[in-house]
Amino acid sequence: MSQPTSRLSGFYKLDQQQRLKVLQTFANLEESTLNHLANTGNTHFELVDRLVENAVGVMNVPLGIATNLRVDGRDVLVPMATEESSVIAAVGNAARQCRDSGGIFTSFSGSLMIAQVQLVNVSDPWAARARLLEQREQIAAICNATDPLLVKLGGGFRELEIRLLDSRSGPLLIVHLIIDTRDAMGANAVNSMAEKAAPALARIAGGQHHLRILSNLADRRLARARAVWHKDAIGGADVAAGILLAAHFAEADPYRAATHNKGIMNGISAVTLATGNDTRAIEAGAHAYAARNGQYQPLSRFELTADGDISGSLEVPLALGLVGGATKAHPTAQACLAILGVSSAEELARIVAAVGLAQNFSALKALATTGIQQGHMALHAQNIALAAGAVGDEIEQLARAMVEQKTIRQDFAEQLLAELRNSTS
Ligand code: MEV
Repeated sequence: MSQPTSRLSGFYKLDQQQRLKVLQTFANLEESTLNHLANTGNTHFELVDRLVENAVGVMNVPLGIATNLRVDGRDVLVPMATEESSVIAAVGNAARQCRDSGGIFTSFSGSLMIAQVQLVNVSDPWAARARLLEQREQIAAICNATDPLLVKLGGGFRELEIRLLDSRSGPLLIVHLIIDTRDAMGANAVNSMAEKAAPALARIAGGQHHLRILSNLADRRLARARAVWHKDAIGGADVAAGILLAAHFAEADPYRAATHNKGIMNGISAVTLATGNDTRAIEAGAHAYAARNGQYQPLSRFELTADGDISGSLEVPLALGLVGGATKAHPTAQACLAILGVSSAEELARIVAAVGLAQNFSALKALATTGIQQGHMALHAQNIALAAGAVGDEIEQLARAMVEQKTIRQDFAEQLLAELRNSTS
């Protein structure tokens, strides 16, 4: 039989049912699978189809609420969208254990984004740099004229920076347009400005413009969080010392720092997704920032206070928005923002940084004491029980039996399920 072709001309013009029919033929899908895909639940297909190309359905991700957070003196409930068990509970635990010291305190550096314009074939780059800086006001005016609404809301052009780089293609002149994007994530605003300003930049520099795009290394948009966990609230001085040792491991070793930061991003990405923001932008920014000094480093630091309590702090670029994109269009994102009760991108970023720190603290505490598998496995066992076909009370019974017998595998779950059903039939 000939292989089905993926060359589908005009797939984008089809409606949902027609696209699903094509998939059915291509992948030999069961009718029940098609029905499953056709059901977009509480998200109308029209919206899904508007957000992405060739849409056929939605991939639902669980949405849960992290409890106990107190951020800058305000109690907040934080929606988190994640497929990973233990993540949401971990934030709630860390947040509870620092409430007696006031919770988590945050700050924000401001909503500045960087747009990059690459200029090439400039014969006198140093002089070109000087000419560009002379024309700052003209360049500012072009940028601001591109987005008068942003300017009206208090944003717009802030700074011009020119960098000279060596590359395998020879010298490069890189212009940074630094733009205050206020409550927008800002990609559209700054990309438009870069495209509008590029011809003038090339003319002034005496070369040609090439790329015109934002940088995801949003190091002018830093959110910071700090908290103190009293040693008595976390199980004593030994636990505090264990957390410290774990943090020092991450500072010394990029292999560990990657996992350490992954734990932070478990929290940050989950709130980013829940609010319809761009998880890839946030992740790219965080990891690039972690490597800014040449060696990949943890985004957080842990220290002992003079009283022997554990003090944690985190600094991370967070280019999050409240307006535009999926945040505005997606009703679930809007519901999540309503739960958070935030009215600015800054407030959102500060809460997200607090979640990242809480997530990180919990992971280090678990790793430094019991290990993460104990808590993780109980939830993981439930998923395995579900995958093995358990329903209702069977799920809990199977999960418990697998944890007790320290064997959490689908084949074992299937065997246990068969035994359970035999014994009750
Ligand atoms: C798992 O998703 C995250 C952790 O690996 C983070 C860490 O090791 O710090 C537990």
